[in-house]
Amino acid sequence: MIDYSVDSDGIAVISWNMPDRSMNVLNNDSIPAFAEAVKKATEDNAVKGAVITSGKPDFIAGADLEMLQGWNGAEEMFENGMELQMMFRAIETSGKPFVAAINGTALGGGFEICLACHHRIAADNPKARIGLPEVKVGLLPGGGGTQRLPRLIGIQAALPLLLEGTHLNPAKALKAGAIHAVVPADELLAAAKKWVLVAGPEDAVQPWDKKGFRIPGGAPMSPNGMMTFTAGNAMLREKTNGNFPAALNIMSCVYEGCCVNIDNGLKIETRYFVKTCSSPEAKNMIRSLFFGIGNANKLASRPKEFPTQKFTKVGVLGAGMMGAGIAYATAMAGIDVVLIDRDQAAADGGKAYSEKLLSKAVGRKKMDQAKADAILSKITTTTDYASLDGAELVIEAVFEDREIKADVTAKSEAVIASDAIFASNTSTLPITGLAEASERPANFIGLHFFSPVDKMPLVEIICGKETSQETLARSMDYVKAIRKTPIVVNDSRGFYTSRVFGTYVNEGIAMLAEGINPALIDNAGKMAGMPVGPLALADEVALDLIYKIRNQTKVDLGDKYIPSPSDDAVTKMVEDLGRVGKREGKGFYDYPEGGKKHLWKDLAAQFPQLPEEEQPSVDEVIKRLIFIQSVETARCLEENVVTTPEDADVGSILGWGFAPSRGGAISQIHTTGIATFISECDRLAQAYGARFTPPQLLRGMAEKGEQFYTA
Ligand code: NAI
Repeated sequence: MIDYSVDSDGIAVISWNMPDRSMNVLNNDSIPAFAEAVKKATEDNAVKGAVITSGKPDFIAGADLEMLQGWNGAEEMFENGMELQMMFRAIETSGKPFVAAINGTALGGGFEICLACHHRIAADNPKARIGLPEVKVGLLPGGGGTQRLPRLIGIQAALPLLLEGTHLNPAKALKAGAIHAVVPADELLAAAKKWVLVAGPEDAVQPWDKKGFRIPGGAPMSPNGMMTFTAGNAMLREKTNGNFPAALNIMSCVYEGCCVNIDNGLKIETRYFVKTCSSPEAKNMIRSLFFGIGNANKLASRPKEFPTQKFTKVGVLGAGMMGAGIAYATAMAGIDVVLIDRDQAAADGGKAYSEKLLSKAVGRKKMDQAKADAILSKITTTTDYASLDGAELVIEAVFEDREIKADVTAKSEAVIASDAIFASNTSTLPITGLAEASERPANFIGLHFFSPVDKMPLVEIICGKETSQETLARSMDYVKAIRKTPIVVNDSRGFYTSRVFGTYVNEGIAMLAEGINPALIDNAGKMAGMPVGPLALADEVALDLIYKIRNQTKVDLGDKYIPSPSDDAVTKMVEDLGRVGKREGKGFYDYPEGGKKHLWKDLAAQFPQLPEEEQPSVDEVIKRLIFIQSVETARCLEENVVTTPEDADVGSILGWGFAPSRGGAISQIHTTGIATFISECDRLAQAYGARFTPPQLLRGMAEKGEQFYTA
């Protein structure tokens, strides 16, 4: 677990090496073992000082979140938190020099151990990440990070690292003053030991324990500090709308903790740590952003009985916006790509997209030219389907037209092996119908990417009626290979993500049609934690596309079509007003060239607004915008469109930006409580329409006292 040895110079080496784990983490086994080793080193008179390092390629990945989930109640959390603080404090007040030999990634609690050491040396490994990323899962550093980092590098420099959870590589960490030196990897241990050997008594005292210590750049009450916190609080509010208590608590922690001495600062931090851990936001984010996405990335739901498929060659049909992105993502994973379009120029245009992204990466020094060239050379452009020979997978991203898709399916199947997979990136056409054009419907599947492909991490995998489990398993292997996150859904109109995403946009438009102030609608969307308000989002998607898909749905469903209260408003915008959205510079908003978008000034005249006293509260608008998505997601679960709450949550956050602090569309129901959610939805259905009526699935769960999640 923790290897302990003392060399002939009296230097103790405390090396983290947890068995059966690729990464060291702070948990119920390792923390006591580490504490024991620290005690040995500090109490043994023969030990001059100590090096803390790791026997694995990385240093320490942070605290084990399962351990945090297992702590019961605020009291236990506070006690455990303070115990950890005291142990780290014992390192820095031991009177012996402690040095961290940071051989690889050191995050969260791992980096906090380093901060508690008197000296920090990192191996020159540009892939190593150093930082305090707790905020990303709704937590705050509880091992002294909010106290030591500002005291080390100044409040102004520390706040962004704490509030954004930014990782630094060793060179950047050195520049930021967070570590003292970077040395070649094979010299790390020797350099650390040397530092201990030459360290004098002064070196074994932290700056903040020295007489007359001042925080670099000034304490919170200094003129500098006041400015930092005034501006910082305003910026935080603008960015987060108060949806992330962790960020707010980090601010408070730094402010309050830096007004007092380190010992009291650490106590303040532990109090905020407990408060933050207990918040529903932290529970939601740990559940969905950490465990949910983590399990999806590990392909937890992949059918196990099929061997993992390695991909060497993938065909991409259609070199437009989506095809170009898919080709790029595939080549980046080291897979050969054949990119086909109707003419050579169009195919080349698709490859040029990769060239643009790669040269940007080279320009920003994120990649060297040789690597960029190697990736680009993976993409071959052509119009000739014969080049697909040998591809294990072909993905079509041609026009959204059944006939064209059927044509390219047949042309591909004439060339590719009988066990190759054919995938469609369709956004609206049911997979089972498209598979009718295939000779091998068991090998036919939907791989729904999101735009822009290079940035969006999700792939919605859609199984048609005939899709085999083996095709699903192998398709999941491909998604993993290109480092995206898969969720698995069953065929249905709009699949899962587009269907639920549509309810958010439609609810916003429905409210506009009811006479609710459009500024209230879009601000409420953002305050709810959605990245963009529903009206602005409708403009971005394009109102004419929403109109077109709606009309197609009407044709396809006939009598079964359920009109949406947004229908008339969409028709009016497109047919009567010719305002189709951002693309044309006019939709619900105006987009002046070179200027900032603003709500169209005639919107109120076109959609007469209720008098001020009849406008709903912002809370009611938020509830409508969020609950409509959750209730539709519950319907998708009931209909087996999406099959697990985890996939529903991950898909909602990564697919359309459902408020992450709410943990996803199903976590929202879990946090509200199923019974409360049902009664609120019943009320909303009474007030605004049957679309809010909760599905039987939820009523049944409430009756039986069932939950979606245990934590
Ligand atoms: P696009 O219009 O940018 O690109 C389509 C490309 O397919 C064009 O380059 C066109 O020349 C080519 N093409 C058309 N017929 C062809 C044929 N017979 N053989 C070879 N190439 C042919 O369209 P986009 O946006 O890339 O969409 C492609 C597909 O992806 C559509 O099915 C769309 O519904 C879907 N999709 C689009 C998303 C988006 O945000 N645009 C998101 C997810 C899916």
